[in-house]
Amino acid sequence: MALERAVLYPGTFDPVTNGHVDVIRRAVRLFDRVVVAIGTNTAKKAVFPLEERLEHLRLVCARLGRVEVTYFDGLLADAVRDLGVAAVIRGLRAVSDFEYEFQMALMNRELWPECETVFLMPSASCLFVSSTMVREIARLGGDVSSFVPPEILPRLIRRFRETVP
Ligand code: COA
Repeated sequence: MALERAVLYPGTFDPVTNGHVDVIRRAVRLFDRVVVAIGTNTAKKAVFPLEERLEHLRLVCARLGRVEVTYFDGLLADAVRDLGVAAVIRGLRAVSDFEYEFQMALMNRELWPECETVFLMPSASCLFVSSTMVREIARLGGDVSSFVPPEILPRLIRRFRETVP
């Protein structure tokens, strides 16, 4: 029997964008199971609480096939070891992403030697999208419908109208 190949797609997803969805779709085509996991980037203070980001991801991933949504505390390398996945997926949008991603991939492998990282290039239409830009545009009342999945658009609009300063 062939071994199941699972892969972990970690991120802050604050919020999930069409760029992330593009990467998840590509990962689904390559691996048997994709685990999308919210981790903590200590340099970022998330605007959307963890529960809300999990809810957004679950709504979006429900239509993508063999995808699970979860979160992890602590190190990514430990999550890879504990979940027993074959690799980490990261999206590479531009040369500017490369240095940070390269360093992170090598450090994760140092922490857990079996932690391989696979880079996927999102489609050209997503190359300029980032969660920070989406938040900024939504906060200032701009149209983010081309950048985020339709399932979460009304929630984002409501959230920014009601609570986010
Ligand atoms: N399309 C569009 N945007 C994309 C994208 C894509 N395909 N891929 C990434 N992005 C954007 C994200 O929206 C995000 O934008 P933002 O900076 O405006 O929020 C940015 O690119 C990258 O963020 P993200 O993918 O969420 O990753 P991150 O750099 O915040 O890292 C973790 C998040 C959880 C993976 C990382 O912090 C981590 O591993 N934490 C655990 C602790 C640990 O192990 N640390 C040591 C690491 S060596």
